[in-house]
Amino acid sequence: MKKKILVIGSLNTDFLIETDKIPAPGETVLGHSVSHIPGGKGANQAYAAGKLGGEVAMIGAVGNDPYGKKLIENLLSAGVDASGIEICEDTPTGQAYISLEPSGENCIIVIPGTNHMVTPELIQKHMALVDSCDYILTQFEIPMDTVRYIKKLALQKGKRLIVDPAPAVAGLEADFWNGISIVKPNETELALLTGREMNSREEYIEGARSLIDKGVETVVITLGKAGCLTVTRDQADLFPAHIVKTVDSTAAGDSFTAALSIALSEGADMKEAVAFAQTVCAVVVTRKGAQSSIPARDELKEVMSY
Ligand code: RIB
Repeated sequence: MKKKILVIGSLNTDFLIETDKIPAPGETVLGHSVSHIPGGKGANQAYAAGKLGGEVAMIGAVGNDPYGKKLIENLLSAGVDASGIEICEDTPTGQAYISLEPSGENCIIVIPGTNHMVTPELIQKHMALVDSCDYILTQFEIPMDTVRYIKKLALQKGKRLIVDPAPAVAGLEADFWNGISIVKPNETELALLTGREMNSREEYIEGARSLIDKGVETVVITLGKAGCLTVTRDQADLFPAHIVKTVDSTAAGDSFTAALSIALSEGADMKEAVAFAQTVCAVVVTRKGAQSSIPARDELKEVMSY
């Protein structure tokens, strides 16, 4: 039987602003265009997991506005069970303002809106989705107390928990990490989470092991063009990235996490799961936007035979 994935997290409308140059503090620049694209780290993960063929549900919240409606429609189009997405009155759907340069560099400001309403009470309302899943995926765009609650719930109910700790938060209590199956930071997030400066592979591994000492099973560090490092207590492996021309890296991390979970849920080992996730990312970064860049499983056939 297919293993089930539950994503608990954020949904945002991305306002993608294309510009020749991301403005420096105090600078004004002219942009070329603005587009509205479904995004949000949670919704991107759920959408990607759906497009990649997973059995996926999501718990989250949107406003009673056209943006919220579009986000739900997009998830449904990828086969995601959206019954756990609350439609809230009086608060707008989350928004993300993304400036994108031709180099593929971007910067993002998120206005959480209804993502603040993803509370333990909302999760309790949809406990059937929790009970029936095998994997829970979450991120840090919802209140941290909710993330703590999700961690406890996953432990109590014996679910595999995969945490994408973005946007990263410094100084989390040691106990937070205990019992998490996989944490997937990028190198900047890992530095912030662990309060360490890191510039070398050895330092990334030491940083990851500091989380493993607190109870994480595996840390997967995405390093952009430098690939990805998987670290457990006894092993560390570097996986070089595919060489592609990056147009927009938005949702690359979210798609990586989703693809990793899909492959693991299908019985792949970590090495195979990383290879699959890297292939998905290699497609995502060559396309613009968040969910608009995520491929379906059969689009990957040309790139790999997984
Ligand atoms: O990880 C990319 C996502 O971050 C964007 O879709 C945006 O909504 C922000 O949440």
